[in-house]
Amino acid sequence: MTVHIGAQPGDIAETVLMPGDPYRAKWAAETFLESAQCVNEVRGMLGFTGTYKGNPVTIHGSGMGMPSLSIYANELIRDFGAKTLIRIGSCGGMQPHVKIRDVIIAMTATSLNTPSMGLFKEVNFAPSADWPLLRAAVQAAEAMGQSPHVGGIYSSDVFYDERPDLTEQMTRHGILGVEMEAAELYTVAARLGARALAILTVSDHLQTGEALPSSERESSFGDMVQIALDAAFPA
Ligand code: HPA
Repeated sequence: MTVHIGAQPGDIAETVLMPGDPYRAKWAAETFLESAQCVNEVRGMLGFTGTYKGNPVTIHGSGMGMPSLSIYANELIRDFGAKTLIRIGSCGGMQPHVKIRDVIIAMTATSLNTPSMGLFKEVNFAPSADWPLLRAAVQAAEAMGQSPHVGGIYSSDVFYDERPDLTEQMTRHGILGVEMEAAELYTVAARLGARALAILTVSDHLQTGEALPSSERESSFGDMVQIALDAAFPA
């Protein structure tokens, strides 16, 4: 048990999928895993462990934003031995060719700030995905008939952004989408010797103002779970 995860040693698998929403973790575990058991419910942050094609998998919520994700990623890796962490989440589209429902696989995550920033001092660290995992996710998505966008994303500290100039700068520099967790996930994983990836569905668009209807959110979330599981356990 750690401060934020009530699981027993051995309850957490080496492969962990991390949606932001704990109820999404529950849905994904019940839908995709065999013999899923709840292993954490401290502060309502649900985690489940089961198997996928015989492989142990944990699906654990990260909460929203980098400070929340940082707590869980640190404890999962340091105290429970997680080795592969895959965020599955949503993002706002930032390029005209990136459409609602599209899948983005984040190669890098730019940010203004992360919880790790104090540690780096003058270093401008470049958080990046684990390459074999990223390649496997692209192959898994393509095998499902998707054409994922692969590139840089922006991990923001705010959902309600009051800096339109920042959005413009990110867009000018080819950033595909904005979310709130990946930069810290990539940084913590790098520091602690784990591998990490973020797979995102475009749920809204900063330029067009379009949003994914709530009726479609579950199926697009399910596609990301499938891509993540196939990437973690390639055939
Ligand atoms: N901003 C930040 N995070 C998000 C967004 C957004 O527009 N959409 C989904 N996650």
